[in-house]
Amino acid sequence: MNSENWIDIRSDTVTRPCKQMRKVMAEAEVGDAVYGDDPSVNQLQELGAEISGQEASLYVCSGVQSNLIALLTHCARGDEYIVGQDAHTYKYEGGGAAVLGSIQPQPIEISSDGSLDLNKVASVIKENDFHFARSKLLSIENTTSGKVLPQSYLNDAVIFCKKHQLKLHMDGARVANAAVAQNETISNLVSNFDSVSICLSKGLGAPVGSLLCASRDFIKEAKHWQKMLGGGMRQAGIIAAAGIYALKNNINRLSIDHENALILSNALKEIESLQDISVNTNIIKFSLPEDKVESLNNFLIEKKIKASVSSNMRIVTHLDVSSKNIEYIIDAFKIFFRT
Ligand SMILES: Cc1ncc(COP(=O)(O)O)c(C=O)c1O
Repeated sequence: MNSENWIDIRSDTVTRPCKQMRKVMAEAEVGDAVYGDDPSVNQLQELGAEISGQEASLYVCSGVQSNLIALLTHCARGDEYIVGQDAHTYKYEGGGAAVLGSIQPQPIEISSDGSLDLNKVASVIKENDFHFARSKLLSIENTTSGKVLPQSYLNDAVIFCKKHQLKLHMDGARVANAAVAQNETISNLVSNFDSVSICLSKGLGAPVGSLLCASRDFIKEAKHWQKMLGGGMRQAGIIAAAGIYALKNNINRLSIDHENALILSNALKEIESLQDISVNTNIIKFSLPEDKVESLNNFLIEKKIKASVSSNMRIVTHLDVSSKNIEYIIDAFKIFFRT
């Protein structure tokens, strides 16, 4: 079945490049990016530095690789990073930092607002003692499950890390959503961080790629790790052009995805069987009776709606889900639950 005919609400990673994006990709100037000769990659990296308020950025193939390169650059063998128990950089990246960098993760519970309680962070920082791994880095995620970390928390985290001599990394896979939700620029959220990873291939709609943004010296070192991981790309301008298009055209429109998520979540709240409904930026979460999981899944497939149906369900809005699609999804849920 042609995926164009489906409404896919599993994740914002499913977005497909639009016609104009494909056009700039087809026409992109390219060169060998490993030699530093690809004008489109260079332009994207300059843009990454500009929007993050950092000195430099490195175009890499994925969010996982970007976070991994950041961890390998910040931490040496026997160092540790403090991270959320359910954070992507801990739970969903194959243990890369431990496997490839001999870096110990120190996970802690994420608070209900998505932040890591800085008192808890302080309590797990290891003393300088030969028994312990060396605490080097705090890694936070923004947004986390769609939740926006407030600017005051980000400022506190920067001050906290300076005081405790920790470096501070942001997995900003969806930091553009956080910025748009607060009517802020991305750079105001991240320019004081030691490094930030920004995904181009989620709500921003590029087919592939992330930007690791940091100081010039950090990016020079990060390039070494990128190469070691086999992440050096040659005529990557073809895909970098999509990233440039995404940054220039698809940031402000994220507000539409947030609005659509709100409309959908308000409608779902009218369905009694759905409980604990929350909406944060473009992510809706709710619980569903276990005995409805299979039948709802089958029903949504019949309706050509791709969803990750489970008793703790998540729906994600993005640029391939229009307002009309939202109405269609609401109708489908209402028909299934007969409200
Ligand atoms: C918060 C977060 N960080 C990092 C990533 C990794 O991105 P990628 O799948 O492009 O490697 C994801 C992917 O969904 C994510 O949700």
